[in-house]
Amino acid sequence: MMTFETSSSSLQSMATTTTGFLFFSFTFLFTMFSFLIFISRSMKPWCNCPTCRSYLSMSWTKNFSNLCDWYTHLLQNSPTGTIHVHVLGNTITSNRDNVEHILKTRFDNYPKGKPFSTVLGDLLGRGIFNVDGGSWKFQRKMASLELGSVAIRSYALETVMDEIQTRLIPLMAASSETVTANNSGLDLQDILRRFSFDIICKFSFGLDPGCLLPSLPVSNLADAFDLASKLSAERAMNASPMIWKLKRFFKIGSEKRLIEAITVVNDLANEIIKQRREMGFATRKDLLSRFMGSVNDDDKYLKDIVVSFLLAGRDTVTSGLTGFFNLLSKNPKVEELIREEVNRVLGPVQDNLATFEQMRQMHYLNAAVHESLRLFPPVQFDSKYAEKDDVLPDGTVVKKGSRVTYHPYAMGRMENIWGPDCLEFKPERWLKDGVFVQECPFKYPVFQAGPRVCLGKDLALMNMKSVAAALVPRFDVRVVGPNQELRFAPGLTATLRGGMPVKVYEKGY
Ligand code: HEM
Repeated sequence: MMTFETSSSSLQSMATTTTGFLFFSFTFLFTMFSFLIFISRSMKPWCNCPTCRSYLSMSWTKNFSNLCDWYTHLLQNSPTGTIHVHVLGNTITSNRDNVEHILKTRFDNYPKGKPFSTVLGDLLGRGIFNVDGGSWKFQRKMASLELGSVAIRSYALETVMDEIQTRLIPLMAASSETVTANNSGLDLQDILRRFSFDIICKFSFGLDPGCLLPSLPVSNLADAFDLASKLSAERAMNASPMIWKLKRFFKIGSEKRLIEAITVVNDLANEIIKQRREMGFATRKDLLSRFMGSVNDDDKYLKDIVVSFLLAGRDTVTSGLTGFFNLLSKNPKVEELIREEVNRVLGPVQDNLATFEQMRQMHYLNAAVHESLRLFPPVQFDSKYAEKDDVLPDGTVVKKGSRVTYHPYAMGRMENIWGPDCLEFKPERWLKDGVFVQECPFKYPVFQAGPRVCLGKDLALMNMKSVAAALVPRFDVRVVGPNQELRFAPGLTATLRGGMPVKVYEKGY
């Protein structure tokens, strides 16, 4: 009996091992096969041109701190303002005529495409940020209507002002005291991330995660959301999508962590939607409650729509404000001019924060915010996938299915677009007789342009200007550490590696 059991279990284990071996062999061969098809269709891994050689050998890192700086250098030296990274199957352009062609004239030929939506699909589902065609059109129409309403704009301003007054200013003031007492500073990028997350959650869900409370608490939602967006973006860096798809199938490694993080975000969103259904949403002002009036029987769709807003609105504003305070710290003259303007419009003793009307009167501040976004756009590049073969206005041939990227970061640094002083931080370039003048969106596609232009542009600018108008007159914010070139971490939005350490000095009125 004993012998039989032993041999039966060893037979079983042999069978299991053989099945496992066959399964993994099959999986391995399948992966290799898919990988070869993938690279033969969309990439050219054997390309020996100087750009591809430098990309593959990483030799560009000898001269540049960031990939975006190397691409900028290549684009500046390209006669058409367009380059090809063949090994990535990517055409990158900083040519404004091309940008107009992609984002407006042939908009229908350049959707986000399947490669993008697959990568972000688990986190964003069918949310606006991740879909094309009819579903995008429906959400765009509904969201434009809501975001254009006076009620939601006032709610957004109220939310921003409350967060500034009750959390951000006291925190900066406390930091100023510790600078005086023991010369310590804070990571402004982290503070602005917390600030933006509180705001976008209140605005989208009517929920306060309290990330900027004085103890700077750990928020499960913020951490899960961070992890989910980071791991989703990292999928795009795999050599083949099959790699992450297999990891997801087996629920292992980063894909296991991604599933867990997405579950935290989804559970919370579902719980809020359920509560809203039970308690009523008609009198509530947040975006979710307002969307509930238009999408009444599909809670998963509702959740997808709102999570898209969290992703679109959180890191972008953080990144924009981080770049702004970085530039201000190095340009005290600009800082002084903003201070003078805010004091003139609000009066020198400011208990109240700026209203919409007062912000409209601050032309120099508006110019400074636009100028900082020109040099440090939160979305440094953005890709589309061609539906059909095409030719761009500069003569570049685009093959069906290939990737085309416009590059706002490089465009902000092109002499042929902004003139010989393009690398200088000069708000004055946006002013005519002291009045702010908007630039052509295809020359400045920081918020994208055309039918799919950012839906949160006005809110983002209001948010950034409110923070600047509240902090600049009250505090000197100085970036500390060696005055090095900024180093960005890879991801969907520009984020500084290692944060942005600053010292804050409160000014006496
Ligand atoms: C400085 C801050 C911001 C910048 C630079 C920015 C930039 C952009 C860009 C470049 C896109 C196009 C992305 C793509 O299609 O691949 C976009 C889309 C979008 N943004 Fe923003 N954004 C900012 C803030 C916000 C805020 C605060 C919100 C929400 C309140 C928001 C909501 C959206 C939405 C919903 C879309 C998708 C629009 C569509 O696909 O039709 N954005 N944004």
